[in-house]
Amino acid sequence: MGGKSSAPDRTLTSRRGFLTGVAAGTTVAAGVLAGRPAAAAESDPAITELPDWSRYLGDGVAVRPYGQPSQFEAHVVRRDVAWLTASPESSVSFTPLHELDGILTPNGLCFERHHAGIAEVDPNQHRLMINGLVDRPLVFTMDDIKRFPRENRVYFLECAANSGMEWRGAQLNGCQYTHGMVHSVMYTGVPLKRILEEAGLKTNAAWVMPEGADSSAMNRSIPLQKALDDCLVAFKMNGEALRPEQGYPLRLVVPGWEGNMWVKWLRRIEVGDEPWHTREETSKYTDLLENGQSRRFTWVMDAKSVITSPSPQAPLNHKKGMTVISGLAWSGRGTVSRVDVSLDGGRNWHSARLDGPVLPRAVSRFYYEFDWDGSDLLLQSRAMDDTGYVQPTKDELRAVRGVNSIYHNNGIQTWHVRSNGEVENVEVS
Ligand code: MTE
Ligand code: CO
Repeated sequence: MGGKSSAPDRTLTSRRGFLTGVAAGTTVAAGVLAGRPAAAAESDPAITELPDWSRYLGDGVAVRPYGQPSQFEAHVVRRDVAWLTASPESSVSFTPLHELDGILTPNGLCFERHHAGIAEVDPNQHRLMINGLVDRPLVFTMDDIKRFPRENRVYFLECAANSGMEWRGAQLNGCQYTHGMVHSVMYTGVPLKRILEEAGLKTNAAWVMPEGADSSAMNRSIPLQKALDDCLVAFKMNGEALRPEQGYPLRLVVPGWEGNMWVKWLRRIEVGDEPWHTREETSKYTDLLENGQSRRFTWVMDAKSVITSPSPQAPLNHKKGMTVISGLAWSGRGTVSRVDVSLDGGRNWHSARLDGPVLPRAVSRFYYEFDWDGSDLLLQSRAMDDTGYVQPTKDELRAVRGVNSIYHNNGIQTWHVRSNGEVENVEVS
C-alpha cells in the first residue's frame, strides 16, 4: 500500500480556500512579533502550492526502525578540528551547541573524547572488578549491576580542556568549537556507594581509582568522600543504553567534576589509602601557572555560560526586530542561580530568564528576548551559582592563572554581532 498513485486529487479552488483560511488565522496571532501580513500569502508559493508531503502517503511505520533526524537536519552533527590532534583515535569531536535547545543533549550529538579510540565492548563479556582495601574483592557482570537499586540524574560532563584553545585570545569561530566539549544527559545507574558497600570498605580506605577497558586503560584517583557522595555507575543515557562513544556498557559519573574522571568502559575500581598520581593527574590535567608551579587535583568545573544562539555558526538572519538570545549555563559546585546577558561587552547587564528544569550540576537553559535596533552588539553571558560564585572575565582569570594551561577556562565569552547579522568570536578588555 501507499505510493504516489493514491494521492488525493484536490482542485485548485478547494486547495486555495483551505490554505488561505489557515494562513489568515496563524498570521493574526504571530504577526505582531515576527509574521508577515496575510496578503503576502497570495504571492508565496509555500502557501499557494501544495507540496508533495501534503499530497502523497509517507513511509509506513517501522520503515525506520531506529529513528533518525529529518534529512533537513543533516548539518547538525559533531565536528572535529583536524589540526588539533595528531590522530583521530586520541582526539575530540564537539557538540553542536548552536543547534540545540533545552537542557538535554541528544545521544548521537554528545561530544566525544577518546584517548585510544572507541572500545566496542561485548556486554556479556564485560566485568566490573572491585579490589584493593575492601573486605571482599568482587567481580560483577552487567546483570549483577542491574540488580542494585537505580537512580536517574541529569548531569553535565565538561572536559577540563573545554575552551582551552581560547586561553591566549579568541581563536575558533563557533560555540561548537569554543564550548562544545560539554554535554548534559540523564543517566540511569547505581550509586557507587552501594557497590563499594557490597565489597565492604577497610577502615583506612580513602581513595578510589576507576579504570577503563579501552586500550588507554584510563585511570584517575578520586577521593572516597566524592565516591560515596554522588558518583554513579551508569549504564543508560537519556533512557537507552550508553552509546559506545560514551562508554558502553558502563561508565563512571562524577557529577560536577572534570570529564576526564568520568571513566568510560569502566572495568575496575581499586580502593586505596592515597592517590595513585597516574599520568592523567600529573603530566596531564594539572594546570601550569606563570611561576612554573602547577595546580594539582583541580577537579571541580566552575560556573560557566555561553550564548549558543546567536553565535558564529548561528547568525541573525532576520536583521533587526524581535530577537531571541539563547544559551547554556552550568556549575560543578551546585545550581545555577542567575544568568545575566550584556549587549554591550559587559558595560550593562540584564537578567536572563531560566527556563526548563534548573538542576544541580546539570546545564540550565537561559533566554533573553529583546527588540534589536540593528546596530552592532557585543554579546556576553555571565553565570552565577548558589554558592555565590560569579563567572569571571577572561582577563580576571588570566591575572590569576596566566596563559600556560589549557585547562579550566571558564571566562566570559564575547560574540560580536554585526548589523548584517554575522557573528564573530572576539575579546573585549
Ligand atoms: N575513559 C576512558 N576509558 N578513556 C578515555 O579516553 N576520556 C575522558 C573521559 N573518560 C576517556 C574516558 C575524557 S578526557 C573526557 S572529557 C570524557 O571521558 C569524555 O566523555 P564523552 O566522550 O562521553 O564526552
Ligand atoms: Co577530557
